Amino acid sequence: MSRFFDLVSKPAREMAGFLPAQSESGASASSQSRLIKLDSNENPFGPSPRAVQAMQAAITAVNSYPDDHCADLRRKLAAHHDIPDEHVLVTAGSTGMLTLLCQTMLAPGLNAVTSELSFIVYGMAVHAAGAQLIEAPMREDGFHPAAVLDAINEDTRLVFLANPNNPTGTMIDAAAVDKFIAEVPGHVVVVLDEAYYDFATHFAALRKVEYSRATDYVQHDANVVVMRTFSKAHGLAGLRVGYGLGPAELLAYCARMRETFSVSSVAQAAAVAALDDLHHVQRIVANNAEQAQILSTGLTDLGYRVVPTSANFLYCDVGEDAFGFAERLRGEGVSVRPLGGWGAPSCIRVSIGTPEQNQVFLNAVRKIKTTS
Ligand SMILES: Cc1ncc(COP(=O)(O)O)c(C=O)c1O
Repeated sequence: MSRFFDLVSKPAREMAGFLPAQSESGASASSQSRLIKLDSNENPFGPSPRAVQAMQAAITAVNSYPDDHCADLRRKLAAHHDIPDEHVLVTAGSTGMLTLLCQTMLAPGLNAVTSELSFIVYGMAVHAAGAQLIEAPMREDGFHPAAVLDAINEDTRLVFLANPNNPTGTMIDAAAVDKFIAEVPGHVVVVLDEAYYDFATHFAALRKVEYSRATDYVQHDANVVVMRTFSKAHGLAGLRVGYGLGPAELLAYCARMRETFSVSSVAQAAAVAALDDLHHVQRIVANNAEQAQILSTGLTDLGYRVVPTSANFLYCDVGEDAFGFAERLRGEGVSVRPLGGWGAPSCIRVSIGTPEQNQVFLNAVRKIKTTS
């Protein structure tokens, strides 16, 4: 037995840990720079020039600790969402918020509920708190609200609703979320994970459906925490900045549990500037919707099943071992996510890139299909 096995906590012994995309795990910088990275739902155009400028200015002051309360960013977000400052908590990415909620609300003997085939970090954050994750069956490749409600019991404290869902890209509309929230019992907090909010809003407008009334729940002080991030449409994934909107009392408990100075001064400055650059976000979401169409058609024409997306990635059933499929794509210079670890062994998730990257991807798929 190893030296520390008996000394570490039960969750540390039992957890598997996060499996990064292959392109992030130890390959040399030169081989990575040649690889087209469509495996982590990042923004292929990078951050806003305004955010870059703000980061450059902030870098000269990194000898000082950051503002632990993230006051400027918090104030700006509160104004942006038309809610008081106390209903906003800035965290190190939205996974920072997720972890805090689990540390604050869960313990051994308690549980959280989500859907099967959803965001992989839910299980990690729940297990790290010593609690159990219950995964309800899904419907039509996405969340099935009634099944999630059925899975809730007296020991449930959190429900995670990824909307849109990662990795399937499916969205539940505002009326269905309203109904769901109204039916969740009072001892449970609903975590509305809207990491792909900007993409989903754009798709919903094109499709003439209503996506989210998330800030209404916060304004009405419902048992809901909305999570958003600067990692996706704003292109700041490497900085680690996100936030939660929710009941002031609950966020204050979460804030106590937060790691001190967890959001860097550079991240705070960049996020403040990124919020002002609506034009940048608009360009990103418009490219995404256009390219989603091109990629979906390309993959469908090649005979693969693609689920309509509301996010910046596609979920595609390649009808064979997805790990091998992804390996062959990697040989052609494109990295995608095989989803065996999520319980979908014949499916991949491919992030929507620039028009050029997507063409390289489609050509690579065509090539491996004809040579297999
Ligand atoms: C559904 C979902 N929630 C949250 C996140 C985490 O984002 P962040 O970078 O803010 O931690 C992701 C990232 O992929 C995601 O897919």
